[in-house]
Amino acid sequence: MTPVLDRRTLLRATGATVTAGAVGAVAAGGLGSAAASPADPVFAHGVASGDPLPDAVLLWTRVTPTPDALPGSGQGPTVDVVWEVATDPAFAAVVGAGTATTGPERDHTVKVDATGLAPSTVYYYRFRLGDAVSAVGATRTAPATDAAVPRLRFGVVSCSNWQAGYFAAYRHLAERGDLDAVVHLGDYLYEYAPGEFPVGSTVRPHAPAAEMLTLADYRTRHAQYKSDPDLQRLHAACPWIVTWDDHEAANDAWSGGAENHQPGEGSWVDRRAIANRAYFEWMPVRNAGDRPLYRRLRFGRLAELSMLDLRSYRSQQVSALSGEGGRSQ
Ligand SMILES: [Fe+2]
Repeated sequence: MTPVLDRRTLLRATGATVTAGAVGAVAAGGLGSAAASPADPVFAHGVASGDPLPDAVLLWTRVTPTPDALPGSGQGPTVDVVWEVATDPAFAAVVGAGTATTGPERDHTVKVDATGLAPSTVYYYRFRLGDAVSAVGATRTAPATDAAVPRLRFGVVSCSNWQAGYFAAYRHLAERGDLDAVVHLGDYLYEYAPGEFPVGSTVRPHAPAAEMLTLADYRTRHAQYKSDPDLQRLHAACPWIVTWDDHEAANDAWSGGAENHQPGEGSWVDRRAIANRAYFEWMPVRNAGDRPLYRRLRFGRLAELSMLDLRSYRSQQVSALSGEGGRSQ
């Protein structure tokens, strides 16, 4: 990772709750401004897309088909959600459609790999469940593998701590309208109990009102973050390319544990699996079976993006950098 993209360097430089920046030069034909349309409460958690390929984009949403089908509840019916992809925001020219089945076993999240698309093309997508229609999202496929790409522009974000403030950085990126994609470098959400980190943080408390430990906890926290209007707007504006850092599971995570995983909190292997399951349910990342999170995306002959997983396989951090004194952001 180059110094320009180092998360902590950016965090130190800005002190921002959500660290954001735009790298690269002027985009050629970026996406239009992101004005997500009002959505039905059935689609209360917005829409998202991610992992653009020359011929495919991963589409995401979550449905609340019945009042009891709340995130983390394990309740609610199995339903078929319709998805549509078009080349225009009015959906006059639908180029792909289908249904996806979801239910409580996957917390009513929906992930569709929309394939058969054209490279370097803006698409619009939405979901339907009965009479309910989601917000319209905009996304963009990657350039053809051998294409001569003059320019790309990515928004770069990390360390988005709900409790420490509002997601104005997401809103500003969504309003740009010139991004090919957003790259989230990790710490999309934080595991702490209300007010725990940063200590005394009271801008807006976490839900559930405890450190997330169980599958229901992790799902509920993901849902809370996905309720933020600025986060929803940026997800609807362009594809995201995400990886996790430590807080998606617990602070200073490594292959055998985490600084914020203590005796009495159960098995780390189990907690890591729970955190990963909720992450793959709730994030617009392409995954199938046991495929790992690390992956490579190519943008024509201009750029190749290696998304790393720097937590699942690493050794424990040295003591001088772990613990309360040196807790990472
Ligand atoms: Fe962070």
